Amino acid sequence: MTEKSVIQVRVYRSPGGEGEDAGRVGAYREYEVEYRDRMTVMNVCDYIHEIVDRSLAYYKSCRIGKCTGCVMEVDGKNRLACTTLARAGMKIGPARGYQVIRDLMVDL
Ligand code: FES
Repeated sequence: MTEKSVIQVRVYRSPGGEGEDAGRVGAYREYEVEYRDRMTVMNVCDYIHEIVDRSLAYYKSCRIGKCTGCVMEVDGKNRLACTTLARAGMKIGPARGYQVIRDLMVDL
């Protein structure tokens, strides 16, 4: 039996939650996530989307680091969410250098 732990993460959310950001500034919201060993940033997004808040928008496709569509800013650096391990206190935002469509989705 494994011991469950909960981590806090901060995730960028667009203002209003619908439509394009259009230059408006959103905010980082804190979420509690049930941590699992070898959990990735993508797994964190999945958890939030499935358990906490279904309105979170993010991209996922191959989940093996090939398509690069899941690029997000993790603690200040652009990383692939599906291959980056999660950690307590991390800050997840839309990838730097791209126009934000909504939440963690950017126009690639
Ligand atoms: S989902 Fe394809 S690289 Fe992450």
